[in-house]
Amino acid sequence: MQYNKPTNETILAALSGQFRTFHQTLNKRNVACQHTTPVKTDLPEVGLSFEALDKLISAEVVPNLSASNGGRYWGFVTGGANPVATYADWLVTTFNQNVSKGGDSIASDIELQTLSWLCELFSLPRSFNGIFTTGATAANVLAAFTARQYAGLQQNIDITKSGMAGLDVNIFSATPHASMIKSLGFAGFGQNSWQKIPCNPDTEAMDIHALEAKLVACTARSKIVIASAATVTGTDFDDIAAIATLCEKYHAWLHVDAAFGIFERLVNPVNGKTHGIERADSITLDCHKWLNVPYDCGVFLTQHMDLLAQCCEVSAPYLANPENSLSYMSLGIENSRRFRAFPVWATLLAYGKQGITHNIKANMRQASVLAQWLEQSDKYELLKPCELNVVLFKPNTAVLGLTSAECLAKLNASGQVFLTPGAWQGQAIIRAALSNWATSDEDVQQVISTLNQL
Ligand SMILES: Cc1ncc(COP(=O)(O)O)c(C=O)c1O
Repeated sequence: MQYNKPTNETILAALSGQFRTFHQTLNKRNVACQHTTPVKTDLPEVGLSFEALDKLISAEVVPNLSASNGGRYWGFVTGGANPVATYADWLVTTFNQNVSKGGDSIASDIELQTLSWLCELFSLPRSFNGIFTTGATAANVLAAFTARQYAGLQQNIDITKSGMAGLDVNIFSATPHASMIKSLGFAGFGQNSWQKIPCNPDTEAMDIHALEAKLVACTARSKIVIASAATVTGTDFDDIAAIATLCEKYHAWLHVDAAFGIFERLVNPVNGKTHGIERADSITLDCHKWLNVPYDCGVFLTQHMDLLAQCCEVSAPYLANPENSLSYMSLGIENSRRFRAFPVWATLLAYGKQGITHNIKANMRQASVLAQWLEQSDKYELLKPCELNVVLFKPNTAVLGLTSAECLAKLNASGQVFLTPGAWQGQAIIRAALSNWATSDEDVQQVISTLNQL
């Protein structure tokens, strides 16, 4: 058998070559690579040399990547990887620590420190702690597990140990993210288990009076409320302070999905749109969104670490933990875990609160420039004032002769921008979500010119 063992020097040279080429061409490549096929290579009997592998990657993979790391990929809520976090992420792979438990490395201490810095960044009380996850979806899964454990304990059922039988619970939400609904399925509540609370007119934000009416009428022994900060389409924020007051009054668990909306807190600290989030039982946030660290990196925060630990406890003699040492494998889904806190730690140190806030403000300003242009254009219709980083619009069909879907396809086919669809007040629309540090004012003008040329 042949073993392929390139030297560290060879690897570093190849990495720096790939990095340089990718970044030099990032702004020139089509933002979305729309027609891809698998690499035409059979599984080799005898492995390729490293040089051949590197060439194959350059020839077959690199040309078929998107520019999601660049400034004009505005689909979903996609954050770019900032340079410092990129460097730190390479180190994560180089160090290859398994952050499952403390006792053998500084990695778990850094995760703990990073969580505490994130709480400080977002002005959350010290009673919050948590764990890094693969993303907001996994954080929402932990939220569903923890809320389930809370509901069970209210009814003297340890759900983690005994299962859901007999659990009597109602779940309320206005506009939960699709991943939250998926999480309710994972947790055994069922994806259809939640009751929809009506929204305030022309928004996706919860009507508080309707929530109170539901809570008053609710006869279930436990109640869970899932709030949004912000919704992925309308970027609407539920009135979290008012919801927290109702949850306290009716002994309901409050989870807030703040995957990207929590970053608004940097611009308008505690009295902004997230006011009251500090009273939530748990919070989801995503660092691979607006903190611009590489995928994959989310965070679950809770003021009830004891419940999280009950949900995730894992024990086996070979996993025994030195006393007083952290055990992340007993606080999350995975036993073995990547050192994904490290790029966040490095980002917080390198940019500081001011640098991170600067990037958030830049994206918000750029989104509002785009929104203003759309508003005055006769080719498009701006569907909602832009208050954060997402712009909702559709083509003026009378002028362009295109439906939203056709317009979106044309814009994406231009290679100049990548946008994703959505639905707003029952109509098909186009979303532009700006959450990348790399987006420049020139990028915005380039997209405006593409929009104008349609
Ligand atoms: C509000 C909200 N929650 C959850 C998610 C899911 O995030 P992830 O893709 O990181 O799992 C998103 C993604 O856009 C989101 O906007």
